[in-house]
Amino acid sequence: MNYFQYRDNDLFCEDVALKDIAAQVGTPFYVYSHATLSRHLEAFSSAFADVPHLICYSIKANSNLAVLKTFVSHNAGFDIVSGGELFRAQQVGCDPAKIVYSGVGKTEAEIADALQAGILMFNVESRQELDTINAVAGRLGKKAGIAIRVNPDVDPQTHPYISTGMKKAKFGINISQALDDYRLAASLPNLEVIGVDCHIGSQLTKLSPFVDAIAKIRELVQTLQNEGFGIKYLDLGGGLGITYEEEEPPSPADYAEVIIEGTKGLGVTLVFEPGRVMVGNAGMLVSKVLYVKEGEAKNFVIVDAAMNDLTRPALYGSYQGIQAVDRSTSDTIVADVVGPICESGDFLAQDREITAFSQGDLLAVASAGAYGFTMSSNYNSRRRVPEIMVKGDQVMVIRKRETYDDLIKGESIPEGL
Ligand code: LLP
Repeated sequence: MNYFQYRDNDLFCEDVALKDIAAQVGTPFYVYSHATLSRHLEAFSSAFADVPHLICYSIKANSNLAVLKTFVSHNAGFDIVSGGELFRAQQVGCDPAKIVYSGVGKTEAEIADALQAGILMFNVESRQELDTINAVAGRLGKKAGIAIRVNPDVDPQTHPYISTGMKKAKFGINISQALDDYRLAASLPNLEVIGVDCHIGSQLTKLSPFVDAIAKIRELVQTLQNEGFGIKYLDLGGGLGITYEEEEPPSPADYAEVIIEGTKGLGVTLVFEPGRVMVGNAGMLVSKVLYVKEGEAKNFVIVDAAMNDLTRPALYGSYQGIQAVDRSTSDTIVADVVGPICESGDFLAQDREITAFSQGDLLAVASAGAYGFTMSSNYNSRRRVPEIMVKGDQVMVIRKRETYDDLIKGESIPEGL
């Protein structure tokens, strides 16, 4: 459920027509619905209301400060994967005791910053990382809370680039090796083993991979508890999918039901790291049609947004809905929606039946709130686009369009060139 809806023929975000935002800030721009963000967090949280739980929104999906602040205001914590994400979490006043730190390549400096900040726990992905965290914590006179990210070898049945819980993935520690590594962790003086962690992939649209993973993880938690480990947290990662096209992912309530059932009696606080399901359908990318070109083999709708602004179609071949901001025409064409970048991979949609757009029309790329702006770049020296948040009838610019000066910030021309 989201708050992007047509009123007559105009596409609105909450109480604001997208065409009015375009008139105000120009195109392209990202727009997020505050009510949708709040609703998604509440839906997830209320699904787990009956069990101890902590929602650590995965910052990588959309890391704008205003989005993060919205979640902090609803008592969420964060899943971070870099010093930069820790910095963002601190900027919005997140309680450090609600921060978990994931990722295969944490540097010593990042580990030190997270320890100084007082985060809840590190989700550790290798033996060497255990040693490193122990050493850094020792130097700082701190004790580091840790969970081991266990790789349960479950096929999440999603795109290979975003499936992470199989044996051949770089992520986590294989479940068969986990017990040994927990024993090693327990022997290290500056670590406190408090959790078990697992994240098997992203954009999961079925419950069965979650069920399979939980069954394996449950056994491990029980073994550890029998050995006297004080496992207080079970972090089940993120991964719940959304509807981009016709997928029918489980609702947070369905997801909660199998998880609560599968973890019954473990006596742990459940931790979740949802990203996409919180923000994906809370955002759109609005763009203007520059040219319509009727080719011999294909039609092209050339727009002012490109693969540098939204890279998912180019990178994963993924589907993003294309909607007319003014749907008064019912004529359609089959076309590719492409950007101005000098690559054939620069498309937002391919061979798609869409509105017969004309030059100057606005179109909205749907489901762009997750992994949209955060994966954008300056390729082709294109300025990154503004981000707008709508709350009721309020339009708030939460990130300005970059200037040409922003593009060259930090560059220099050494003398004598
Ligand atoms: N926790 C960990 C350890 C993760 O690696 C991820 C995502 C999440 C949580 C959040 O997963 P989510 O709930 O959003 O599925 N760029 C790709 C997605 C990459 C996901 C990376 N990890 C895309 O655009 O589809």
